[in-house]
Amino acid sequence: MEGSMKNMCLLGLLLALVIAGLGEVNGAHECGRADPNMEAFKLAPCASAAQDENASVSGSCCAAVRKLGQNPKCLCAVMLSNTAKASGVKPEIAMTIPKRCNIADRPVGYQCGAYTLP
Ligand SMILES: *[C@@H]1O[C@H](CO)[C@@H](O)[C@H](O)[C@H]1NC(C)=O
Repeated sequence: MEGSMKNMCLLGLLLALVIAGLGEVNGAHECGRADPNMEAFKLAPCASAAQDENASVSGSCCAAVRKLGQNPKCLCAVMLSNTAKASGVKPEIAMTIPKRCNIADRPVGYQCGAYTLP
């Protein structure tokens, strides 16, 4: 009797862990199944351009931004991600990269956190 109670507790704990795990996956939906914190590494060529508004934006950075920008929600999540923050990215400057790349079909006016894409 006592043993089955213990099993019920274990099952409950396991269920709670699974639900918590699902919640985390849902939180990463901005980039589909990818985690914005991992996607942020794709913008490594943008590191200097994302910290200095006057830095020139490299072609490889623009290519990466153009690709991520096809999903503005993802691009936004990446720019605001902990990875970006930890690498010294300034969101207000990162937001200007699509414009500095002259990406014609960039999501102008897209609201990303406290920022608006120019
Ligand atoms: C970028 O250039 C402008 C105009 O020359 C200047 O005012 C600003 O301080 C520069 N910003 C940085 C981060 O160097």
